[in-house]
Amino acid sequence: MRASLFAGFAVLQAGAVLAEPSLERGTYLVEGPSACGNCHTPLGPTGPVMEQALGGRVVEQSEAFTAIASNITPGGRVAGWSDAELVKAIREGIRPDGTVIGPPMPIGLYRGLSDDDVQSIVMYLRQVPAVDLDPGQSVYNIPLPPAYGPPIDTVAAIPQGVTVVYGAYLANAVSHCMECHTTFGPQGPMFDTHLGAGGFEFHGPWGTVVAPNITSGPEGIGKYSDAELVQIIQHGVRPDGAAMLPPMPYGNFAAMTDDDVAAVILYLRSLPALPFGG
Ligand code: HEC
Ligand code: HEC
Repeated sequence: MRASLFAGFAVLQAGAVLAEPSLERGTYLVEGPSACGNCHTPLGPTGPVMEQALGGRVVEQSEAFTAIASNITPGGRVAGWSDAELVKAIREGIRPDGTVIGPPMPIGLYRGLSDDDVQSIVMYLRQVPAVDLDPGQSVYNIPLPPAYGPPIDTVAAIPQGVTVVYGAYLANAVSHCMECHTTFGPQGPMFDTHLGAGGFEFHGPWGTVVAPNITSGPEGIGKYSDAELVQIIQHGVRPDGAAMLPPMPYGNFAAMTDDDVAAVILYLRSLPALPFGG
């Protein structure tokens, strides 16, 4: 009895300590599971141009839009925004001038970022080297929503641990696994009906690649062991040794702690099995 009470107290204590916003946490998130650079860092012929990390680039071009991820270093216009304004831009998709940030930045999921985590991300962005680059302005030929939801006052931190709840937080709010892996409808990912069912097509210099079904059943990740999933998620290597294609940010996920990857896998195994593409 005494021992279990004490264990519970230790967990609470660890949660409380880790829940402080910190540069260390921001570094872990941005360079690891949040992978902001997967969209915001310029791409050269051999991969991300790290001397211009987070300096911005064209992310997606289609009839619907030309999406250009902004320069989010102190060399971009975010330099003139307060911390609270930057938090609102990241978590609610609304800039200080009231304009709305368009897709594919996964604002719908970033709405779930805890106060501590989004503030840690801001701390990190403030101290990266300023990149002198103007990647240009996005053009949206589709209407953007006036907002992605009601204003957010506060989002409480979820205690860290190898739990389904924390895995859900990581796979949604932090890493947006579910943005890429959920079937797309006219309004974007169909989270309510097709969560994790796959089917979205990515086009790039590497060709066309389709997001697989990552729900729990045999058509999804049910066919893989935990060890195989670690190799897939963190190293982009399939059980038969085949290398996987972008844009899944394997390099960033390689920096995730063992516990965080285990929590994500636990969460994926808890997702109701769906057929591919819903
Ligand atoms: C899937 C691609 C993608 C990811 C991942 C992404 N962004 Fe973005 N981001 C964009 C695009 C595209 C825009 C510009 C949208 C527009 O022009 O309306 C943008 C805009 C922004 C802006 C507005 C800057 C300005 O000057 O208007 C901020 C701030 C921002 N992103 C921060 C982040 C942070 C922090 C992360 C990681 C937690 C992140 N983004 C992850 C694609 C992405
Ligand atoms: C930017 C989009 C994107 C993000 C973010 C993303 N993925 Fe993926 N994922 C893909 C694509 C595309 C593939 C297919 C790659 C290929 O076929 O070479 C893939 C493949 C996979 C596979 C292999 C499944 C199979 O049966 O082939 C798993 C498992 C997986 N992702 C899990 C995750 C998890 C967990 C996360 C978050 C931690 C995540 N993905 C984040 C796009 C993404």
